[in-house]
Amino acid sequence: MAFTKKTVRDIDVKGKKVLMRVDFNVPLKDGVVTDDTRVRAAIPTIQYLKEQGAAIILMSHLGRPKGDGPEPELSLKPAADKLAELTGYDVKFVPDTYGDEAAAACAAIKPGEIVVLENVRFLKAEKKNDPEVAKKLASYGDIFVLDAFGTAHRAQGSVVGPAAYLPAVAGFLLEKEVDTLTSIFAEPERPFVAIVGGSKVSSKIGVLDHLIDSADTLIIGGGMAYTFFLAKGYTVGTSLKEEDWVERAGEMLKKAEAKGVKILLPVDNVVAPEFKDEPGTVVDSDKIPDDMMGMDIGPKTEELYAEAIKGAKTVFWNGPTGVFEFENFQHGTKAVAEAVAEVKAAGGTSIIGGGDSVAAINKFGLADKMSWISTGGGASMELVEGKALPGVEALLDA
Ligand code: 3PG
Repeated sequence: MAFTKKTVRDIDVKGKKVLMRVDFNVPLKDGVVTDDTRVRAAIPTIQYLKEQGAAIILMSHLGRPKGDGPEPELSLKPAADKLAELTGYDVKFVPDTYGDEAAAACAAIKPGEIVVLENVRFLKAEKKNDPEVAKKLASYGDIFVLDAFGTAHRAQGSVVGPAAYLPAVAGFLLEKEVDTLTSIFAEPERPFVAIVGGSKVSSKIGVLDHLIDSADTLIIGGGMAYTFFLAKGYTVGTSLKEEDWVERAGEMLKKAEAKGVKILLPVDNVVAPEFKDEPGTVVDSDKIPDDMMGMDIGPKTEELYAEAIKGAKTVFWNGPTGVFEFENFQHGTKAVAEAVAEVKAAGGTSIIGGGDSVAAINKFGLADKMSWISTGGGASMELVEGKALPGVEALLDA
């Protein structure tokens, strides 16, 4: 499925001031960027605009500030410095977003120059999509470019607002993300195996529902598996569970059966008495002791899942299958990651939805073995659910 919105390729940017919303919401430790994936992902569009002779004004949020003014630990300066370091370009950071200093810097910017404004969320009105925010930001540029895929599901001032006042087009990252995450569901090469993990059924119900409509096999892992166990009539000890979602989980199992979609649930589990990084015990899924909680999938399940994944031509994965942050319970997620890594090598396609599964893949050093790793957590889930993203909707149609 082709991307249906205009992109930077469709508009003349030479000599223009381009106001570009990026997602530089990166993790920081002591003022240093600890994972620069999102900064790297924005570079192709920045490079293109620079080569075309545009002046580039970048804006982003970082974290979730209160919105009552600057919070120094959530400044975008470290991200601006990272961009300069990665590209070798002069990048001017302006410690202001909506005031005179920002306006003056944007008025003075020349073709080929790059300015990064301060965190757009230091003002509450940004999150509320106040038209005054949009108008102010739009006054800085001639063209609006949205390349912040990770934030495209947020109808917030800097994401959707400027499109009401300026010609608005997509950057390359946004285009590629939307294209990749929609086309695998429209025309997946089969067999199509989807793996969904993570803690809650409730937060991924739309995703599960949509996957049952498109996948041949749906593999379930992580904390959410225990709610499915309850739906099958097993007891789950002290494992994570959502009693209110047992009925919906049961409906999912029935829907899958009616559609001929194979659902794989863990057949064995690594359990422990407490949520601690200490060695666990392996038990079958229908034999979880009352005083134990599930922490990871067991070895029989690893084998079962790896076999299903390796036979796939298309794989979509979102969410770890266990508490991979703990050394003692990372084995299952690692086995799944290794199996997914083989799909691309065998000529298939592996797409990773953002969030914890990306952190797991990075931890196991397998990132370059995947076909596509999304830079968006919430945004990629909403796309997979089949929802329209407000940021994308606001752009000019191709
Ligand atoms: C993300 O990290 O998912 C995006 O940057 C969006 O951040 P938010 O959930 O704070 O809006």
